Amino acid sequence: NTEDCLKVMISGAPASGKGTQCELIKNKVGRLVVHVVIAMQYGLVHIAAGDLLREEIAAGTEKGKRAKEYMEKGLLVPSEIVVMMVKDRLLQPDAQEKGWLLDGYPRSLEQAKALEELGIRPDIFILLDVSEENLVERVVGRRLDPETGKIYHLKYSPPENEEIAARLAQRFDDTEEKVKLRLQTHHQNVEDVLSTYEDVIVRIKGDAAKEDVFAEIDKVLSSVKEKKSQASMDS
Ligand code: AP5
Repeated sequence: NTEDCLKVMISGAPASGKGTQCELIKNKVGRLVVHVVIAMQYGLVHIAAGDLLREEIAAGTEKGKRAKEYMEKGLLVPSEIVVMMVKDRLLQPDAQEKGWLLDGYPRSLEQAKALEELGIRPDIFILLDVSEENLVERVVGRRLDPETGKIYHLKYSPPENEEIAARLAQRFDDTEEKVKLRLQTHHQNVEDVLSTYEDVIVRIKGDAAKEDVFAEIDKVLSSVKEKKSQASMDS
């Protein structure tokens, strides 16, 4: 039932673990015990604003070239580039049918308003809260697998084998200097966004190990999903 599908926003400072938690949410496997699903699968479509922008950069488009100038300075990419890009992805049939997990969007009042105007609101807005010291360490140690897109960390999530280790890449904006600028941008904008979603915000402490953070998120999402299914059965 498409009415039951979840609409989730996940927000937090740079390197707070948004992408990592989205992978865990997406990959969660439902367990069937005698035809009863005892662990829920979410089946959400993950839409990450940063990934959409990096795809444009990799494809060498005009939009990508312009976006990169801002990303290199740790600034928000102008709305005329980002808003349409995310809106188009959100309105694709898969996201409409399965529900969505929107990562790193909206990041400004303007972006939040653009969604409100389309009647797009989340069931829940997860805010990951991580200390600044941890954020810097996470950025500097982050590596990505260009083949699978998987996120690693040299200390906290090291690659499984030598072959993967050899091909890991670092993001162009993952330096200590650039993360300070990205953090500043985050602090300047976050309150505006939070004010739009006050009624559905859940703050989650994100300093713990990724599995422990996921356990908290899983609890919250299961409960929202259950409430939604119940409400749709009642109506
Ligand atoms: P974006 O790609 O969204 O970057 P970001 O917000 O800075 O977030 P990150 O992707 O850096 O981190 P994350 O929270 O996903 O953390 P991760 O899980 O990887 O945006 C990049 C740029 O694009 C922006 O600066 C802006 O210019 C532009 N942009 C994007 N969206 C925009 C928008 N809406 N409007 C305008 N411009 C926009 O984890 C980080 C590391 O920590 C990893 O190595 C991971 O393994 C490790 N880790 C994760 N969790 C844990 C844990 N619990 N314990 C230990 N290590 C952990």
